Amino acid sequence: MKKVTVSATKEYDVVIGKGLLEDCGKMIVKTVGKSNAAIITDDIVDSIYGEKVEKSLCECGIKVSKFVFKNGEESKNLETYCEILEFLAENKLKRNDIIVALGGGVVGDIAGYAAATYLRGIKFVQIPTTFLAAIDSSVGGKTAVNLKAGKNLAGAFHQPSLVICDTQTLETLSADRFADGAAEAIKYGVLDGEELFEKIASGDYIAEIEDIIAKCVEIKAEVVKNDEFDTGMRQLLNLGHTIGHAIEKCSNFEITHGHAVALGMLYISRAAYKLKLVEKDISDKILNALIKNNLPVSCSFSPEELSEAAGSDKKRNADTINFIIPKDIGDCVIKPLNPQDLLKIISAGM
Ligand SMILES: NC(=O)c1ccc[n+]([C@@H]2O[C@H](COP(=O)([O-])OP(=O)(O)OC[C@H]3O[C@@H](n4cnc5c(N)ncnc54)[C@H](O)[C@@H]3O)[C@@H](O)[C@H]2O)c1
Ligand SMILES: [Zn+2]
Repeated sequence: MKKVTVSATKEYDVVIGKGLLEDCGKMIVKTVGKSNAAIITDDIVDSIYGEKVEKSLCECGIKVSKFVFKNGEESKNLETYCEILEFLAENKLKRNDIIVALGGGVVGDIAGYAAATYLRGIKFVQIPTTFLAAIDSSVGGKTAVNLKAGKNLAGAFHQPSLVICDTQTLETLSADRFADGAAEAIKYGVLDGEELFEKIASGDYIAEIEDIIAKCVEIKAEVVKNDEFDTGMRQLLNLGHTIGHAIEKCSNFEITHGHAVALGMLYISRAAYKLKLVEKDISDKILNALIKNNLPVSCSFSPEELSEAAGSDKKRNADTINFIIPKDIGDCVIKPLNPQDLLKIISAGM
């Protein structure tokens, strides 16, 4: 078992280990006390892990209610969010009660946003069940839902009180959903340096998954500690995301977040070299890492479609778009670019 402490507005632990779900009740009581809990989860996760988590909480004397919504990115919207709020109110959750977000990034983002806003904010615990949620979305306090205009356009910063990552839950993920997490892991590798990158790029790390998750969470914790509210260096975590979000949007979310980010990283690394923003071409390294991790290396959208979609990305200021440019493995920079150059950049990357 491994533990990483995140120091943000509030300090909390990310506990990573095999078989932790069974003891999640005890861990939660130890951290937040014996309050009532609302489990928020999706239908797939509920069918595999819902009972186990509910049992663990009940055994610790926690009164549990549960809200289950249809799995998938299309549920991460205002409608589901409102249903969750009404559910919390109907079940009379009070200020000192908690939300338990059980699932992937979609569950974590929407349940976290509900926790941030219900009664002006209640505590919540993240129990990530996807590789992506384990290394990325469950840590750092960004919560959100999508609007018609784009991804994550309504949200809040709200840190969890505890993150419980049971690595055993990853065993039931499909290869595609596991690959989504691998894309974010490759991102951490590109940000951090050769050692982590090579490990993930090999595609051969499942035996060391606990260490890999802990390493990625450590990197995220360090970034969040220094820039919790995303006004500076935290933006580095958006490597591949401007184009990635555009791909998600163009595909009507048929292409999942991780797959889209994978392509986003490939395209921006290629474009950066071709447009002479960097001296070194690392795009082949990224390409090989994607292939080894069962991730896509091309998509069917035109540069025009993608640049149009990227234009409405929320990371856009009035005059510039901040792109994360990989100069080398372990050396990325934030570069404000002109939105009018979007088409040129995306064309060069594809
Ligand atoms: N808040 C953040 O900092 C942050 C960071 C990265 C990504 N995100 C968000 O995370 C979301 C993507 O998260 P995701 O990839 O986890 O998607 P997801 O939550 O949709 O999960 C993917 C699929 O896997 C299923 N699933 C989950 N756990 C499972 C398990 N253990 N076994 C079998 N099936 C399981 C789910 O039901 C779903 O169908 C996106 O909305 C993205 O914007 C947020
Ligand atoms: Zn992401």
